[in-house]
Amino acid sequence: MPAFPQPKALASHGPARIIAMCNQKGGVGKTTSTINLGAALAEYGRKVLLVDFDPQGALSVGLGIRSHELDVSIYNLLVERGHDIHNVIEATGTKGLDVLPANIDLSAAEVQLVGEVAREMVLSRVLRPVVDEYDVILIDCQPSLGLLTVNALTAAHGVLIPLECEFFAMRGVALLVETIDKVTDRLNPRLELDGIVATMYDGRTLHSRDVIRSVVDHFGDAVLHTAINRTVKFPDATLAGEPITSYASSHGAAESYRQLARELIARGAAA
Ligand SMILES: Nc1ncnc2c1ncn2[C@@H]1O[C@H](COP(=O)(O)OP(=O)(O)OP(=O)(O)O)[C@@H](O)[C@H]1O
Ligand SMILES: [Mg+2]
Repeated sequence: MPAFPQPKALASHGPARIIAMCNQKGGVGKTTSTINLGAALAEYGRKVLLVDFDPQGALSVGLGIRSHELDVSIYNLLVERGHDIHNVIEATGTKGLDVLPANIDLSAAEVQLVGEVAREMVLSRVLRPVVDEYDVILIDCQPSLGLLTVNALTAAHGVLIPLECEFFAMRGVALLVETIDKVTDRLNPRLELDGIVATMYDGRTLHSRDVIRSVVDHFGDAVLHTAINRTVKFPDATLAGEPITSYASSHGAAESYRQLARELIARGAAA
């Protein structure tokens, strides 16, 4: 395992590199990775915006936001004119970490956007006014390859795929890669695969190691060196409404997301 250097402080902020956290398989650690990678990057002095792009609103809730009580959310920015995104973004308890929250309203957007002109570009347009204010923007996608996810891929510079170390982890990844290729081809030529991050890794089991080996056989260098261990600390932190980096700052689980942040910075995938 290479050592990833301590990131240098940034002299100035922005424009952001936008990364979509994407896997249409449910429960693989997209939201957990978005929150904790974002918090780790913020600890390194990066200005980070997390975009909740799942009507379940798990990202918002995981950051302590009462998402069902929101007057305006990302939904209003997507389907209505005249809102200022600055009024929708909220600060979190972590310095340098902001969130653009969502709730179940967002489930209507998918249908409403279908009839729009340039319906795949809507999120890109929504984020434009704040791109220069952040170093990294992470988009937490929903578990589907529908129009919202295509919007995320169209707005992004890179895509990070969390992959659960489980049987059948690879099932569906081919379809995801195909979707990424299509978006690159037709909508967003700058889109890059930033990496695949193994989550819920249990090094004590042969099985977890087998999964990693087969993923590396298949995807080679795209697989990040950092793997995230399986630990109950993650659901605990989510329940507490804060990132692992503050909930259990010295736990190995927090360190693993710091390492992921350092690895992405070292690769040039984050500022
Ligand atoms: N490394 C981990 N170890 C143990 N539990 C984890 C880990 N990562 C995530 N979890 C737990 O697994 C569940 C699913 O994680 P998460 O919500 O991050 O996945 P997701 O891909 O965003 O799911 P969805 O597809 O429903 O949006 C959550 O209860 C979360 O707390
Ligand atoms: Mg999620």
